[in-house]
Amino acid sequence: MPEWWAGQVQAGPLDEKYLHDWSGTRYGTPAGLARPASTQEVASLVADCQRARQALAVQGGRTGVSGGAAPGDSEVVLSLERLDQVEEFDRRAGIVVAGAGVILADLQTMVEAEGWMFPIDLGSRGSCQLGGNAATNAGGCRVVKYGNTRDVILGLEAVLADGSVIGPPNKLVKNNSGYSLSQLLVGSEGTLGIITRLALKLVPKPAARRSFLLALAPDAGLQTVLQRCKFGLGGALSAAEAMWPDFIEGVVAARGAGRALPASFAGRPALLVEVEGESHDVLARLTEDFASELMEQGLVLDAILPASERDAQQLWMLRESIPELQAPIRPYVGFDLGMDPAGYESFVLLAKAQLQKDLPAVKSYFFGHVGDGNLHALVGPCRSPEEMQLAEQALYRHLKPLETCVTAEHGVGRKKKSYLASSRSAPDIAAMKAIKHSLDPLGILNPGRIF
Ligand code: FAD
Ligand code: LAC
Ligand code: ZN
Repeated sequence: MPEWWAGQVQAGPLDEKYLHDWSGTRYGTPAGLARPASTQEVASLVADCQRARQALAVQGGRTGVSGGAAPGDSEVVLSLERLDQVEEFDRRAGIVVAGAGVILADLQTMVEAEGWMFPIDLGSRGSCQLGGNAATNAGGCRVVKYGNTRDVILGLEAVLADGSVIGPPNKLVKNNSGYSLSQLLVGSEGTLGIITRLALKLVPKPAARRSFLLALAPDAGLQTVLQRCKFGLGGALSAAEAMWPDFIEGVVAARGAGRALPASFAGRPALLVEVEGESHDVLARLTEDFASELMEQGLVLDAILPASERDAQQLWMLRESIPELQAPIRPYVGFDLGMDPAGYESFVLLAKAQLQKDLPAVKSYFFGHVGDGNLHALVGPCRSPEEMQLAEQALYRHLKPLETCVTAEHGVGRKKKSYLASSRSAPDIAAMKAIKHSLDPLGILNPGRIF
């Protein structure tokens, strides 16, 4: 054990949980684990690592699915889990300053008790950390209304590869004094700096919320229905999530027949829509009128309109049953495609036909945050690297280079890096590499991720 580890790095072997992210893939055996409890401890560790040319694997809640947080051989795991304090809560302005290790759900619960809301919401809310959300520019279900994590960040504090600390986090809504280093770090997946504190914007918590499920008619066209949602529900629209029949059938099989939908939904893509507003009665009228209108126009075959948001949780449970779907198809390939919603239906048909031809034994489930052009699929089990590649090719071959992307919200990490050039141009990638080199010349922060 190097001398400089004393008191700051615990030598391996490490607890199993530090060896991989949610995807489960391992990339090597890390040498040790550091769990600093303050920005100063992070800074002193990183300065020592740079001096010793020790590579770090930066970890938040390890719910990422791109392999970015998973350590490689001889890396030291740097876990932010002890930076778990909300340090400031300005109840008047609706701004919080929180440590990178704060769990997303803990922040949500804390601010909601005071009438505010943190609008980023993901199925992994109980484990993912704010630092990880910023590092991946996480999206989730309410991007259609509130944007990605990038849009709710006022400023960041971060430790750079030489141990210097950039910050304090900007808390001003308007601040154009030079480059935004915070926005550069958002979505940088631990390759440019280690996020230690975040200043975040809150929104007033809506008094009422309502969700409903639509069975799309065969000739409706998802994009037409989405456009109708945007115009018909206006600013109240807060989520629009699609689930293809394979996904719904897979969830029902995994969670039990109690989750089955009425026969009118069989074989049809379903759209789960959420609206927010100031009055339950107004939202009830809005959603009922809207659903009836879509049915009259032949765009929708049926609608489920739960009487309360509590009942609507059953619908959201369908959408959020990803862990149950994944379990029986590991090892699987997870897709996170960004594309024009006009292409969804034809893409899903093409992809499923290709999978059927190339990998007839694998299952595939299509779903996604269609309101913001983000289509997911889970495809598995893929029992060899060749099968994984076939699954990837089956979908990626039907994407238009540079007009679509292989990751809309999860990040490139290790899993998508061989496809980066299909989503970004050569000059883009050269500029990204130049930034990486200038901030981390020795390549100690998350080496081998993104590029
Ligand atoms: P980790 O997995 O620990 O790390 C992710 C990346 O960020 C790694 O590259 C890591 O090195 C880096 N990183 C972590 N913390 C820091 C830090 N403090 N400083 C610098 N770099 C850091 N994602 C979505 O976008 N939308 C969804 O709807 C969504 N739903 C999900 C549902 C489920 C059930 C699961 C399991 C995952 C889901 N995810 C989703 C993926 C994942 O939860 C997000 O990417 C999340 O933002 C990762 O946060 P984390 O703290 O777990 O980060
Ligand atoms: C979701 C994850 C897979 O949308 O991003 O559930
Ligand atoms: Zn998602």
